[in-house]
Amino acid sequence: CLTPEILHLHQLEGKIAVVTDVLRATSCMVAGLNAGVKSVIPVKKVEEALAYAAKGYVTAGERGGIKVEEFTIGNSPYEHMEEAYHGKSICMTTTNGTVAIDAAKKTADQVVIGALLNVTAVADYIKQQEKDIIIICAGWKGNPSLEDTLFAGALIHQLKHRSEITDDASYMALSQYEASNSNLTEVISKNASHAKRLSGLKAQNDLAFCAKEDYCDILPILTGDEITIKK
Ligand code: MLT
Repeated sequence: CLTPEILHLHQLEGKIAVVTDVLRATSCMVAGLNAGVKSVIPVKKVEEALAYAAKGYVTAGERGGIKVEEFTIGNSPYEHMEEAYHGKSICMTTTNGTVAIDAAKKTADQVVIGALLNVTAVADYIKQQEKDIIIICAGWKGNPSLEDTLFAGALIHQLKHRSEITDDASYMALSQYEASNSNLTEVISKNASHAKRLSGLKAQNDLAFCAKEDYCDILPILTGDEITIKK
């Protein structure tokens, strides 16, 4: 599902949903949890996050790529990895990523958080499951985005020998990944619209980091309202 706008056309019941927002929401979650963050609580609205802030939680996220003023941190993976947040729970809201997670959790059997940073860990987990999966790309305000499509392609690339590709979106994502996989950073930074947006926000370092495949091997999953590392 290349954008959550068409999620209603898909059946999620009985499936594992792998949600991705490579730039940058799910990359922040993976990077932070891998560094030592205890859990991430994704919410849709700024007001919901502020209610968590009032209870003493660390808050993180952005609107339009820019940190929400009242929040503790923004949406750079480097901020999420800072030692100050190790052992803490972070409540997070972002323009697209947490919206996609919210949509997925309503009906999917399980929600897995994927990024290029942990793509092989996600693939290895999926390989052991009997259930079908749906990859939900957060995109940007209803439009598909290149970097999320590349993640979908990277995951399908690892799973393609196990099952047949039966839909055009999966074939497109796989083809795009296989044409780009020797240089994901360059392909994303030259062509992705969000890369241009991030470069305007002086966040090019975030992009280079988020484009790394298999930086870590953790598997974050959503249980109730919280994302934690599956043991
Ligand atoms: C999103 O959820 O749209 C992104 O994480 C935006 C960003 O890069 O800050």
